Amino acid sequence: MANRTPFIAGNWKLHKDCADSITFAEELKRAIPQDIDVDVMVAPTFTALHPVCEALKGSPIAVGAQDMFWEAQGAWTGEISADMIRSCGCTHVIIGHSERRQFFGETDETVNAKLKAALAAGLVPIVCIGETDAERKAGKTFDVLGTQVTKGLNGIDPETLAPVILAYEPVWAIGTGNTATPEMVQEVHAFLRKSVADTTHKELANAMRILYGGSVKSGNIAELMGLNDVDGALVGGASLETESFSGIVRYK
Ligand code: PGA
Repeated sequence: MANRTPFIAGNWKLHKDCADSITFAEELKRAIPQDIDVDVMVAPTFTALHPVCEALKGSPIAVGAQDMFWEAQGAWTGEISADMIRSCGCTHVIIGHSERRQFFGETDETVNAKLKAALAAGLVPIVCIGETDAERKAGKTFDVLGTQVTKGLNGIDPETLAPVILAYEPVWAIGTGNTATPEMVQEVHAFLRKSVADTTHKELANAMRILYGGSVKSGNIAELMGLNDVDGALVGGASLETESFSGIVRYK
């Protein structure tokens, strides 16, 4: 099995203004050991990206944006480019989160365009996919996820895909307290690794980190991380407090 470094990411969503974000970042910097053998990332709001990057300088915690636009510049009121995100000090970006898909018209095509732009700018993209409750109940989980993977990666040279991190987040598990069972998670992650192998090649699929997201907390992280094809977690609610997030990061 490929040696994949665990990756734990905290998605702050629409929480914490600039001052709160800086205070929290400083707390995390103190709470997370300098020599942690897990890759850690936080994703504050756009307006807090630069100060949080400054606050976390010299710590092992990376900073990512929660979204981005695919164009580099132009008349696109309200949008933020990959280079602008980079210029704040960020190294990562979340693309295609289910809340973007559900409430802001994100599609597999826009995910694909953003992924290309993120890679071109040298950002590490965390591409989110996941089925809704209705899709799972209708037995469409694997169709939906297979389509999200193939359309999301469509037309991208496999040689450039190495930095990509995939995040499986069943929509029904996000913010609900209903974590998917370990059996469901392992089944989907193995399927995703195979889909990536079929769309690109086996070595890339074996090396790609696949995160689970959806009601991850300090009480269930160890079991999830024990699964063969789970390489980390994308954490929402439980990433907003120092104790719970550092507990997840130090799951071993
Ligand atoms: P949650 O969110 O941990 O609050 O369920 C996960 C996510 O949306 O990334």
